[in-house]
This record gives sequence, structure tokens and C-alpha cells, in this order.
Amino acid sequence: MTHDSFEPDRLIFNLNALAELGEEVTSQKDFQRVVKSSLYMVMGTFYSSRGAIFRYDCEKRSVHAIVSKGVASDSDSFIPINAEAVEWMVGLNEPVDIKSNGPFQTLFGPAVGALGEFGARIIAPLVVKDELLGFISLNEKFSGEEFTHYDMRLLSAMSRHIAVSLHSHSLLKKLVHKYSENKDLYESLQSIYYNTIHAFAAAIDAKDAYTNGHSNRVSSYCVAVAREMGITGEAAEGIRIGGLLHDIGKLAVDKTIINKATSLTTNEYIEINSHPVVGYEILSKIKFPWKGVARMARNHHERPDGTGYPDRLKNDSIPIEARIMSLVDAFDAMTTDRPYRRRLSFAEAVGEIRDNIGAQFDSGVARPFLSVIRKEVAGEVYHPTVTPLLRDSLSLSDVTRLMDGFPAG
Ligand SMILES: [Fe+2]
Repeated sequence: MTHDSFEPDRLIFNLNALAELGEEVTSQKDFQRVVKSSLYMVMGTFYSSRGAIFRYDCEKRSVHAIVSKGVASDSDSFIPINAEAVEWMVGLNEPVDIKSNGPFQTLFGPAVGALGEFGARIIAPLVVKDELLGFISLNEKFSGEEFTHYDMRLLSAMSRHIAVSLHSHSLLKKLVHKYSENKDLYESLQSIYYNTIHAFAAAIDAKDAYTNGHSNRVSSYCVAVAREMGITGEAAEGIRIGGLLHDIGKLAVDKTIINKATSLTTNEYIEINSHPVVGYEILSKIKFPWKGVARMARNHHERPDGTGYPDRLKNDSIPIEARIMSLVDAFDAMTTDRPYRRRLSFAEAVGEIRDNIGAQFDSGVARPFLSVIRKEVAGEVYHPTVTPLLRDSLSLSDVTRLMDGFPAG
């Protein structure tokens, strides 16, 4: 190593190189390009023809070149280095001329030969917060001049810039990895959650021999009507779940009562009519990510005229989700065969709804329900969700005619 002479032009050149490097490593370019151009700047500054930036992999306890220039060697190969060598480099944290450095030769042992293939003469550690991220290797200057103290100090400053860049990249990689890990976990939990809800819906429907698929249909109808009414996102998702679980209280009702073809006794009525409250008691113990699921189950048999059950709520005091559910629940019951009667046609069921607006059904829900069906029949909806579930095939003129008799809501 030679002593320095003061050269103003060289100082300005090097300061510029340092500034440019600082700019480069903080740029938004992709990581590989940043590392590559950083190496080229360092090599250009020190007139080196061969160089590499190595990354230390603490799990593999080895280094490998992530970018190199003027090197014929296979840059993908991993060069093992031992823990003492890593510790020594972290403690040193300054560039070193490996040719004349005894500790390096001893500690790096077999790695010295492998680094020789990269033409390594000067090694500059890349250290952040006492962690070895890797190092830069440079060969001799092609002018044949020795590295001066000043060169080593400049290389040290440049290494710190590059180390920070490597460090923030690895932090980012860790963050991305953690994010994708959490995302996978969240998705698997979510699918378990949804599968459980669907299993419950299937169990509810299995109790009633006639209403197979009722919970799924109510859920789909509810979401379609809610969207038509401008309820979207998580609120619509809550309605979908509420629809699937609205009759969960029926799990506690005797199956023979649910499937009875003859009229019910008073006690049987009491038992079957308890299902909204039983459902509420079950669902209110579950911490759903959506609001009001338990209330939807509780209030899906309320009526705007206050004669429903269990709370005898009136008009707007019935949650909007429950008002939607009440209508589509009744519609599905009417259009499904029951033990004691044949199903109604679509037009007949719509007629029933129209005749009971204000008493049993909310006027603000009935029209959006028909509007969804009209749009689907007219082919205005990309993925129809209601009409594929209906048993009648509908013409646009029929639906439009039925809608004409409806209040605007
Ligand atoms: Fe019900």
C-alpha cells in the first residue's frame, strides 16, 4: 500500500463517484441492477478489471457472488466460510489487502483459493448493525499501482453505501416473505371458516326434507338484493353469511316437527318459532368479522306491521339485512314444494309479495328484488346469481309486467 499525495482532481472525481453511488443505491431500480451498477462504479473508481459483490448466507454459512465482472468462474457456486472468519470481518469492518493479511489467510483457509478465481486482492466487508451481509472483492488496479490509504478509506465509504442497500433489500425480502406467509395462513384459516359455515348451512337444510339448498338460495338472493340496494363489500359479505346461517336455530328443533305434513299443535308452533332466538343465542357467541349476523337470524321473521316474531319489531326498527332476508326467505318457501302444499309459480309468489307489502314485506326491498331478476333476465348481469336458482323460466316481458304493479319503494 502506498502513501497518498494530494490530487484535487482525483478527490473531486471520487467525491462524485461516492455521490453517484449514494444516488444509485437509493434509486427505485430493481435490486440486481442497483448491485451491478454499484460494482461497476466501485471498479471504475479504483481502475479494477475484475470484481464481485458477494452475499453472505448465514444459514448455508457461505458466500456467493451475486454480481461479478471480468470473472470466468462459476459465480453461482457457494464458498464456505467459518464463523470465526465472519466474526473477524464484522469486527474489522474495513477493506483489507488479503495478500498481505495473515489473519485473513488463516481464517479463510480453503476459501482463499476460491476467491482467487475471482481475482480477489482487496476485500471490503459489507456490514450493517454487526451483521455481515457480504463483501466486495477487487483485483489489483490495471495500472499496477498499489491501493493507497486514501483508496481504502474511499472504498470503505462506498462499501457502507452498498451495505445499507443490501440490508434494506433483505429487510424488504423478509417483509415480503412474512407477508406471503401470513397471507397463506390467513387464506387457509379463511377457507376452514367458510367450509365450517357451509357445513352448518348443509346441516340446517338436511333437517328439512323439502327445503334442500334453502340456506344457500336465501344467502344468494340476499346478497343480490343487498348489492342492488347499494350495500357492498364487507356489509354484503355479512349478509351472505347471515343468509347461510339464518335458520341455524332449527338445528335445535325436532326434525318431525319441521317435516310434519299436517297442521302443528300449539307446542309445536312454539318450538319451531323459537328457532330465531335459538339461532341468535348460538350466533351471538361467535365473534364474526361481520356485523349483525346474529341479529339477522333473530329478526328474519319480523314483519313491518309488528306482528312478526320474536321481538315484534316494526318497519325501520327491523335491521335492513333482516328485512331483506325476510322477503327472500318467504319467496323461497313459497316457490318450494312443502309437505302440505305444492309450490307457487314465480308470478304467484311475486303476487303474494305485492299483496303483503307494508304488512309482511318491506316496500324498500321488494322492488330491488324484482329489479335484480329483471336485470338478469334482460342479460344485463355478467354473472347471474338469482335466475339460475329459480324453477320457472322467465321472459323479460313477464318480469317487466310484474314489476309495473310494484310501488317504487
Ligand atoms: Fe326461519
